[in-house]
Amino acid sequence: MSTVDDVKQRIDIVDLISQHVTLKRAGRNYVAVCPFHAEKTPSFHVDPARQSWHCFGACSTGGDIFAFIMKKDGIEFRDALHLLAEQAGVALETRRDTQEDARRARLFEINEAAAAYFHAMLLADDGPYVAKAQAARDYVSERHLATSSIEKFHIGYAPNTWDALTSHLEGRGITAAEAVAAGLAVEGDRGAYDRFRHRLMFPIRDDRGRVAGFGGRVLPGEALGSGENQPKYVNTSQSVIFDKGAILYALDLAKDAIRAEGKAVIVEGYMDVIAAHEHGYSNVVASMGTALTERQVTLLKRHATTIVLALDADNAGSEATIRSAYEIVNNSLRRRPVPNARGIVRQVDTIDVDLRVLSMPEGRDPDDVVRSQPDAWPQIVDQAKPVLDHLFDVAAARHDLTDPRQRSVAVAELSPFIALTADRVLQSHYLQRLSRMAKVDEATLRLELRQPVRARQLQDEVPEDLRREQPATRQHDPREEFCLALLLQYPDLRAEAGGLDSGIFSQSENRALFESWIGGADDGESLGPDLRPHYEHLLTVQLPAYDDTTAVRALRATVFGIEQHRMREAKRTRASALLDVAAQGSAAIAERARAAIDGRVLDVTEDDEPDPATVFVNDMEAGLELHKRELDQHRPRTAR
Ligand code: CTP
Ligand code: MN
Repeated sequence: MSTVDDVKQRIDIVDLISQHVTLKRAGRNYVAVCPFHAEKTPSFHVDPARQSWHCFGACSTGGDIFAFIMKKDGIEFRDALHLLAEQAGVALETRRDTQEDARRARLFEINEAAAAYFHAMLLADDGPYVAKAQAARDYVSERHLATSSIEKFHIGYAPNTWDALTSHLEGRGITAAEAVAAGLAVEGDRGAYDRFRHRLMFPIRDDRGRVAGFGGRVLPGEALGSGENQPKYVNTSQSVIFDKGAILYALDLAKDAIRAEGKAVIVEGYMDVIAAHEHGYSNVVASMGTALTERQVTLLKRHATTIVLALDADNAGSEATIRSAYEIVNNSLRRRPVPNARGIVRQVDTIDVDLRVLSMPEGRDPDDVVRSQPDAWPQIVDQAKPVLDHLFDVAAARHDLTDPRQRSVAVAELSPFIALTADRVLQSHYLQRLSRMAKVDEATLRLELRQPVRARQLQDEVPEDLRREQPATRQHDPREEFCLALLLQYPDLRAEAGGLDSGIFSQSENRALFESWIGGADDGESLGPDLRPHYEHLLTVQLPAYDDTTAVRALRATVFGIEQHRMREAKRTRASALLDVAAQGSAAIAERARAAIDGRVLDVTEDDEPDPATVFVNDMEAGLELHKRELDQHRPRTAR
């Protein structure tokens, strides 16, 4: 749970506000004289069910607990959060200080300088390393890498020396210690030396295009100090900014295509990605040879609803593949109402991603498949099998199904996936298949499925704390979150969003996030630690794939929905006040209502304290305004 949610759950709005204001019960709400402006008739309402407050008087504003403290103390969201967190005894995530941010920024900068250097070394036609770099250039052409790819992927060459990079960086004001911190140099007895020697260099960028680290491929010819068995790839060592499990290679270049197609293809290596992109298949990223991690899946699910795992033949049945599949499935569970055969609807966990597995023909990898039959690639990807079909094949290959014990293991492996299949017909199909394979009747297997298992529970190697947290439902407004998710995931909407009033967001964290975003903050870093978890949550909200036009339309419809909802809520809260007034049969109301209908403007002296009649008229006018806009939205364009 995020800190914001945690604080909201622990502090009741009625308790909080009554520390400052004398609240009086009125129906299911509370009313008071507004603490924020001088008035005699109470127009300040607190709604315990919604955990919100509103002043219908001069303030004409409201919000949640944070908004109350922000207004009362004149402070910003972040400070209100800190204040209330302390009051609630909620530990705040340690504020990552600016020093730490600066350190990270510096590491990215150092890596960028190194990438530029390696790239220049590959292309240089003079200088001390030209001769050795020829081996890299020959290798690159032997692998048929296009010149455009060398540029696009910023491929480079690390010279065969102990200090070429380190001294180059020193010349640019980067110390050896910094090169070590970036994972580019290694601390030795006689000072730091270059980690990468005589290697083909692939800068590894994060999803925002920043160089987080490098992979260096072995080249023909012996690298200094490497001996016989040099590894095919050397990576930057793990650093503050480089964690292989948190990055998908080329996601920065692939995300637009992935979003456009709704489909991502995951291959194993750099070479595979580059070959695919070179031939126009830009929705391809690489897991860099290891099982997918939760973080990689989270990154990908921001953009894709279909994920194709394209695996080298020898890996297709491996432990890593099955782990990857589990990881994807576990991170793609969504509670959904699913009717059973008798039409009774239950909330069931289902998978909200279409996961498929593609095994390459024996002895081939995507790199040579794409290069040898570039036009066939789309059909090949289309032939990827649904993950369950693949796992059935894997189970059949891995287990000796004549042994009942091993059949039992196979059932345990497969049934969670079957249980999570939302489509009843499909589920039945797989159940029959499992029944045949396991030699167990379907009814017994069905019992197995009844257990509310999540695939994760079977995977003991996955640590507990990675289990998905259940979001708090109480004070979340799905409309607001959808709206924000839309803005964050479709940054081109910024122009359209410029006209929005942050007041449409009733939840303080949403409002604060919107204000920072519209003010130019566009990533978790610049939003700071308080808003970052909420931001990250919003990035994982699954949205339909929109194009420019439909995204704008979706935004408008969402904003309209929020306003309409807000209006209805306000009307409900005001109803009790209006009832009172109506009971008094106020002549003033009748007069104003008539004026409003005739379109006359009444000469009202603007005082601080509108009487209920004014409230009523404002209410009507707001209602009229809303209806007008609704009409406008649905009127055909030509009629405007
Ligand atoms: N890998 C690694 N370290 C290794 C071997 C592999 O980090 N010692 C990662 C790399 O990201 C590599 C990927 O696993 O790209 C896939 O490995 P592999 O298929 O062996 O390499 P390719 O990228 O296909 O390179 P090549 O085609 O040159 O063999
Ligand atoms: Mn390869």
